Order: sequence, then structure tokens, then C-alpha cells
Amino acid sequence: MERLVIEGGRSLRGEVEINGAKNAAVAILPAAILASENKCLIDNIPDIEDVHCLERILKGLGCSVNKIDRNTLEIDATTIASVDACTEDVRRMRASYYFIGALLARFKEAKVDLPGGCPIGVRPIDQHIKGFEALGADVTIEHGAVRVKAENLKGANIFFDVVSVGATINVMIAATLAEGTTVLENVAKEPHVVDVANFLNSMGADVKGAGTDVIRIKGVDSLKGCNYSVIPDQIEAGTFMIAAVATEGDVLVKNVIPKHLESISAKLIEMGAKVEEGDDSVRVYVEGPLKGVNIKTAPYPGFPTDVQQPMSTLLSSVAGRSIITESIWESRHKHIDELKKMGANIKVEGRTAIIDGVKKLTGAITKATDLRAGAAMVIAGLIAEGKTEILSIEHIDRGYPHIEEKFKALGAQITRIETE
Ligand code: EPU
Repeated sequence: MERLVIEGGRSLRGEVEINGAKNAAVAILPAAILASENKCLIDNIPDIEDVHCLERILKGLGCSVNKIDRNTLEIDATTIASVDACTEDVRRMRASYYFIGALLARFKEAKVDLPGGCPIGVRPIDQHIKGFEALGADVTIEHGAVRVKAENLKGANIFFDVVSVGATINVMIAATLAEGTTVLENVAKEPHVVDVANFLNSMGADVKGAGTDVIRIKGVDSLKGCNYSVIPDQIEAGTFMIAAVATEGDVLVKNVIPKHLESISAKLIEMGAKVEEGDDSVRVYVEGPLKGVNIKTAPYPGFPTDVQQPMSTLLSSVAGRSIITESIWESRHKHIDELKKMGANIKVEGRTAIIDGVKKLTGAITKATDLRAGAAMVIAGLIAEGKTEILSIEHIDRGYPHIEEKFKALGAQITRIETE
């Protein structure tokens, strides 16, 4: 077990390089098993625990996975030997549900344990199942595993009841090898949805419209391996932008797509921070006082739920009242109790956090209650007076590559230490 120890009170200054997007990579790796010919060479993959988990699951299915370097994997799925993904790794993480769509597409059957993931609310997969069934699959849930089987997958028109990143990507993956055309409506438009569509097209799929409300997939006979580079992580970038403002620093956040960060940049600017966009970077700094703002999370291009928690830390020490309404996940305010241990003045009412900014936070022993909550606590430690310890950092390692190295390079005093 490890924990992070932070001595707060230093402004972050310098440059930070953002890694590839976790939520794109965790769909692209399972989708790589669609290649019945040639290998996939995928780079800009973040070096995080969720990716390590997927590597193990791929190997368990019989794929050969070759780590070329920290951020590049070569996957040969021509050797795949099983359609059964029922392991502890599958149950631990959310994105393992993409193996259902990928195995169903290529082998017309799969048995995959139900996924785990962060405890941020009820996380049903009914929309995934609705999509698979519309394509002609029989879907059953037995002993905690999803079984899918089809004689043949046939293109269909599917209107999702809720906008879901996971269901959009999963059904898009499943439809790539179906007979005829599939039309998905009311889909998610997140940058990682577009990235997965681009990856599928690089393999020879025919997917159009990703990034809009309607995606059209013309089924093809087979898909091949390809070379692909994952897009930069919008959420990791947002986390560093927020940390720069929270510590009243000056940080150049590099290797980003500024367009993907617009909703975050707009809120920081509304608070009084400075955000300067470059071609593939944003410089974030503070000049003058900041003020509280109201935020409501929404599917892309709205304000991302995944940076809501880091934002609440920043707002906890900004003068005035801020209100954050979480509209995607009903239990994504669990970190607030941890922030309160550090002196934050926040009241949670249902999905809403009412934050009255305090002059300073003070260091305390805290824990990461989930992935983004962990990032929120790191930022809290960076701005607090004195020492903060963060426990349960395995949540952070699932999604942020080498977080302490990156913050240290920006001048933070942060150390990872072994704990009992
Ligand atoms: N939903 C349903 N039925 C479904 C699927 C979703 O009702 O079949 C509901 C959910 O309960 C939720 C909403 O739809 O209220 C949106 O869920 P979505 O399916 O979009 O979420 P997800 O695919 O489970 C991904 C990310 C999350 C991110 C959300 C929203 C991955 C692996 N996870 O989850 O990322 O919060 O989209 O953008 O891509 C994170 O990175 O920290 C994280 C939690």
C-alpha cells in the first residue's frame, strides 16, 4: 500500500506534458481484438493501472501483447483463443465492458463478468444491452456475467434513452462487423467517442458522424490491425489547469487539443484566471483575485463530470459562494467530507454542493474515495497549509500516470511512500 505526502503552499510553475486519454485508450485496447489480420501498434497510451488491467485481460483471451515502451503497445489479436473474460481484472474496472461489444462483433459470442469501476453512482448497462439486442444478440446475465450470443449480427436503428459514453462506444464497436447499416441516435459526443471511431476506421471500419448526435456504421466483412495514436487526455489536462489556478501558479499544459478544453477554460476565465490557447497547449495563470462560479456538469461539450471534483477543491478556497450541480453521477460528492477535514466550508444537498470559499485549507490525513476524488485531494494538499497525507491512492493510479512525478516537476513538494 502506498500513500502520497504533500507539503502544501507552493505555486506550480513550468510545463507539463499531458498523456493519452484514459477513456479513449480503455476502449481502443479491447477494440483491438477486432483485427483478425495484422497487429495493432498503438501509441500515446497512458501508463496507468486500468491499462495494465486491460493488458492482462487481453493476454488472458490469448492475444499477444508486446510493450514497446511506457506508452506503446503492439497487440496481435489473430491468436485469440477464448471468448470468456471472467476474471478479477474484468470485475475491477469499468471499461472491461467493451470486451462484450468487441467479442460479440468478431466471434458472435462472449461471456464477460459485469464490470466494476469507481463508486460514483448506480452504473447500469441497460443501454449497452438494448443495443446488442437490437443488433440481433441474445443477452443474458447469469452468475454475475453477461453472456451474449448471435447467429448473425444485423444493422439496426437504435435510439439511446440516455446519453451514454460507454453504450455509444460499445454498440459502435459491435456494429462494425454487422451485416448492413446501423444508425445510433442520441449518442455521446465526447472526444474519446470520436477517437475510438477514428481507430475503428483505421482498422477498415466504416463509421461516420462520431462527434455529432447520430453515428452511422456500415458493417464490413473484417478488420485489420493498424498504427494508431491515442488523443491527449482532456481530463488530465483539466486537472493540471485547475491545479495551476488553485496554487496561483503559471503552467504551460502541453500536448492537448485546446478545443476539447473549452468548457473548462471558460469556467476558469469566468473565475478570473488567465487561459491562453496555443496550437497544442494552454497556458494557465493567475493575475488578480478570483471569484466563485456556478457549475453544472453535462455531456460533452458541457462541463465534464470528471473534472467536477478537482474543481470543487479549487472553489473551496476562492472567495464567495459557488454551486456545483452534478447531473451525471448521483454520488460524486464523496470527496467533500475529505475536503471538510481540511477546513472547507461545503454543504451537500443531493446532487448539489454549495461551497463557501475559505481563506485557507489546512493539511490533514485524507483518502481518495475514487479516481477523480483522488485528484481533488492532491490539489487540496497542494494548496493547504502544512502536511497532507492521501491514502487509498490506488484509485488515483488507475487513471493518472505518475501523478507525483508530474506535480514534482512543476515545483510541488509531493512524495509517494510505502505505508503499512
Ligand atoms: N447510463 C444508463 N444506462 C446505461 C449506461 C449509462 O442509465 O446503460 C447512465 C449512467 O448511470 C449515467 C449516465 O448514463 O448516469 C452516463 O453514463 P455513461 O455511460 O456515459 O458513463 P460510463 O460509460 O460508465 C464514462 C467514463 C466515466 C465518465 C462518464 C461520463 C469510461 C471508462 N468511463 O463512464 O469516467 O464519468 O463516461 O462522461 O469511459 C472517470 O474517468 O473518472 C470516469 C468515471
